[in-house]
Amino acid sequence: MSIEIKVNGRKHSVNTSPETSLLTVLRDHLGLTGSKYGCGEGECGACTVLVNGYSRRSCIMKVGDLHGQPVTTIEGLEQEGKLHPVQQAFLEAEAFQCAYCTVGMIMTTVAMLNAMPNPTDEQAIEFLNGNICRCGTYPRILRAVHLAAERMPKGEAR
Ligand code: FES
Ligand code: FES
Repeated sequence: MSIEIKVNGRKHSVNTSPETSLLTVLRDHLGLTGSKYGCGEGECGACTVLVNGYSRRSCIMKVGDLHGQPVTTIEGLEQEGKLHPVQQAFLEAEAFQCAYCTVGMIMTTVAMLNAMPNPTDEQAIEFLNGNICRCGTYPRILRAVHLAAERMPKGEAR
């Protein structure tokens, strides 16, 4: 069946079952391969996207459950050729090694800073707790979070 979804501000009509995971639709139907498949069970965070501004595991979310809620992926963060402050901060803090977890970390950080503009270390660690980095770059990720928090335009969450 045909399912209408809105991703990164654009409407798409996707021919698939409502049971298909959002991650499969993003990657295989729309060619948005930034979101990664890690565990496929909602446990690692590599597939994290924003749904209506909240971080969601796209591997376990059925596309039929979106009910018109807008989706933002890593591809939708950059605006007019300029990286989102969280992307820029991860780059400057070199908050990655293999980078497989990075997109999920960035999307979760965006959701966190939208909800909590100046998190403490403890709050950031708690919020990012479900995102796993096998390379152990957590200290640099934390540095990137604080760098981004300093630069995020307050009250202009997206
Ligand atoms: S791939 Fe979705 S949480 Fe691991
Ligand atoms: S940078 Fe390799 S998993 Fe995080």
